[in-house]
Amino acid sequence: MSGTLALIGSGNVGGAIAKLAVDAGWTVVLSNSRGPETLAELVASLGDRATAATAEEAVAKSDLVVVSVPLLAYRNLPADQLAGKIVIDAINYYPQRDGDIAELESGELTESGLLQRALPGARVVKAFNNIVFRHLADLPRPSGSPDRATLPIAGDDESAKAEVTRLLDDLGFDALDYGTLADSWRSERDMPAYVAPYHEPAPEGLDLQEYAGWVYLTAAAAPASAEKISALLASATRETTAHEAVDISRF
Ligand SMILES: NC(=O)c1ccc[n+]([C@@H]2O[C@H](COP(=O)([O-])OP(=O)(O)OC[C@H]3O[C@@H](n4cnc5c(N)ncnc54)[C@H](OP(=O)(O)O)[C@@H]3O)[C@@H](O)[C@H]2O)c1
Repeated sequence: MSGTLALIGSGNVGGAIAKLAVDAGWTVVLSNSRGPETLAELVASLGDRATAATAEEAVAKSDLVVVSVPLLAYRNLPADQLAGKIVIDAINYYPQRDGDIAELESGELTESGLLQRALPGARVVKAFNNIVFRHLADLPRPSGSPDRATLPIAGDDESAKAEVTRLLDDLGFDALDYGTLADSWRSERDMPAYVAPYHEPAPEGLDLQEYAGWVYLTAAAAPASAEKISALLASATRETTAHEAVDISRF
C-alpha cells in the first residue's frame, strides 16, 4: 500500500510521521498554520516525495490525513474538506497548554470525540498520540520482526481503522484496535499505555517534571508488544494518575 498522506501540523510529530511515510514510499503533503513557504526546509530534508501546501490543498490531494496540532487548533481545521476523509488524530490534551475543557475534564468526551464533533462526516481514528516523536522515529521495523512495536488505534469506522492499520504496517508498526472513539480515553495522557511503554526504564527518583525532560531528550526507544499494550490499555481506569503511568516496573 502507498498513497498520499496529508499532515495538518508539521512539527515534532507531523515531521516524524512524514519521514516514516516517505521512507515507506508514500507521498506526503505538509501543512501548518504559517503557510507552505515556512516548511521549505522540512520539505527539502524529506526529498522528492514531499511537498507543502495549505491545509485545504493538502487534504484535497490526500488519501489519509494526520492531524498533529495543539488541541485548540481543532477549531481551525478545514471541516468541509475533511468530511468523508480518514482523519488520524494524534492530538493530546494538556490543560496547562490548552486551558481547561470541561467536557474533557469530566470524561464526558474523549479528545477524539471532541475532534469528531468538530469534523462531521470525517472518519476519525485515534493513533500516534501515545508515543513521543523521537521514539516513533526510532521504532519502525519490517513486518514480522520480533521487536516490532505495536501502536493502539481506536475509532467508530471499521473500514477507516483497517486503512490506518495498513498505513501503520507500511510505516513499520503493528496496530492494535482497542475500540471506539468513546474508548479512546484508554490511550490518552497519563494512562498506562501513554509514552512509558515505548522507552527504556526510567531512572529511579525522577519527579514528573524531570521525567518529562528525560523522556523527551534522553530516553532510548524500546518496542512494546501487542500483549503489553493490550494489558496496559485494559488496566487503565479513569483514576489512573500520571505517577502510575511513570511506573513501568510492572512490565
Ligand atoms: N511531541 C510529541 O512527542 C507528541 C507525541 C504524540 C502526540 N503529540 C501531540 O501532537 C500535537 C502536536 O505536537 P507537536 O509536538 O508536533 O507540536 P509542534 O512541534 O509544536 O507542532 C505543531 C504543528 O501544528 C501546526 N499548527 C498549529 N496550529 C495550526 C492550525 N490551526 N492549522 C494547521 N497547523 C497548525 C504548527 O504550525 P505553525 O508552527 O505554523 O503554527 C506546527 O506545524 C499535540 O497535540 C501534541 O500533544 C505530541
